[in-house]
Amino acid sequence: MTEGQNWGAADVVVLGAGPAGLVLGNLLQDSGVDCVILERAEEERVRTRARAGFLAAHTARILERHGLDEGLRLRGREHGVCEFRTEDGRFRLDYGGLGRGERHTVYPQQDLVSDLLTRFLDRGGRLRFGTEAVAVLDADTGRPSVAVRAADGRTGRFRARYVAGCDGRHGAARRSLPEGAVRRYPCDHGVTWLGLLAEAPPSMDAVGYAVHERGFAGHMARSGTITRYYLQCERGTPAGAWSQERIWDELDLRMGAKEHGPLERGRLVQRGVVDLTSDVLEPLRHGALFLVGDAAGLISPSAAKGANLAVLEAEALAEGLIAELLHGDPDGLDSYSARCLPRIWRAQEFSHWMIGLLHGPSGRDGASPFHHALWRARLDSLRTSRSRQDWFAEHYVGV
Ligand code: APR
Repeated sequence: MTEGQNWGAADVVVLGAGPAGLVLGNLLQDSGVDCVILERAEEERVRTRARAGFLAAHTARILERHGLDEGLRLRGREHGVCEFRTEDGRFRLDYGGLGRGERHTVYPQQDLVSDLLTRFLDRGGRLRFGTEAVAVLDADTGRPSVAVRAADGRTGRFRARYVAGCDGRHGAARRSLPEGAVRRYPCDHGVTWLGLLAEAPPSMDAVGYAVHERGFAGHMARSGTITRYYLQCERGTPAGAWSQERIWDELDLRMGAKEHGPLERGRLVQRGVVDLTSDVLEPLRHGALFLVGDAAGLISPSAAKGANLAVLEAEALAEGLIAELLHGDPDGLDSYSARCLPRIWRAQEFSHWMIGLLHGPSGRDGASPFHHALWRARLDSLRTSRSRQDWFAEHYVGV
């Protein structure tokens, strides 16, 4: 690769302005660490991209601890009930009153991102939109740099002491890892969801999980006027394959609208197809390059853990970088990976368990009578066993 024009330098170059990059950027900046965030997209897109929306109690505490929770406190809504609907009827779990008694805060991820962005910029943070990281270079030499390309095609370099790869699943951080430097543990869960955003009020006061022989259907409130729905579909289904009417009819059918009440219909304003896959990278570091959020590992959306892990990792990395850069203490950086990985694997384990629960009759083993019976037993113990419910609540809200 050519040398490229020098576009600047920072002690920490952060790739990506998602939840991971922006939590990290704010914490570094608050401590006086010299950093710059490079973001491929333009500002408008970063602020409006609809993604997840369920924040765990632990995430809310991290944001509160660092004064990053103002919007969340003002506009987030506490949530603590989920409802399962199956061929045997429905049951609710008041998970906010089980386990550790913790709840979710429902707050659209684009609002959190927008809050974090405003705060970072208002405090004089350096952030370059429309600047794509192409590659992280020399991460193992002590003189790393990031090759970048602007939207108009100009190219250049940023020099760094450390690079934080917060640029998601298809970012430059992952691409720049040399063969064999980091081990990847991939998993394809064999299930595909059509993710939908409806301009419609929630249809129930709970997260709804319908497990149906035609496939899973999910309902998650986002706000008083926007609701997220999921519909399991065949792998390879194009996002636009189903008409709006067919989607609502299918949601009605799988969620048992006849028995349990109709769904509030509205215009479907966004749709996308997600193959449920996961992976974990180990370790979360290659020399001066650290992996955070989706760049560190993908987690299926079945238990809404992705953004929560991203925030947890960003805080851990910020602590390590601050200790090293301001106090010359490398321990936090050296232990970053070992500190995060057990939490990541526990979240993966729970998400994997949820996938089994939500796709019993329609998943990979759905046709096997033995697995069908096992799945019913699993649901039954969740419905009737208090200790099972406490376990569920602890893992469902926790990270
Ligand atoms: N250079 C610069 N920026 C990049 C590059 C690149 N090469 N590639 C991606 N980006 C930017 C994206 O535009 C995005 O703004 O990096 C950011 C990554 O943000 P997220 O995908 O939200 O990832 P992360 O911050 O790790 O948050 C993870 O949020 O919605 C969930 O599914 C998501 O659960 C995951 C969590």
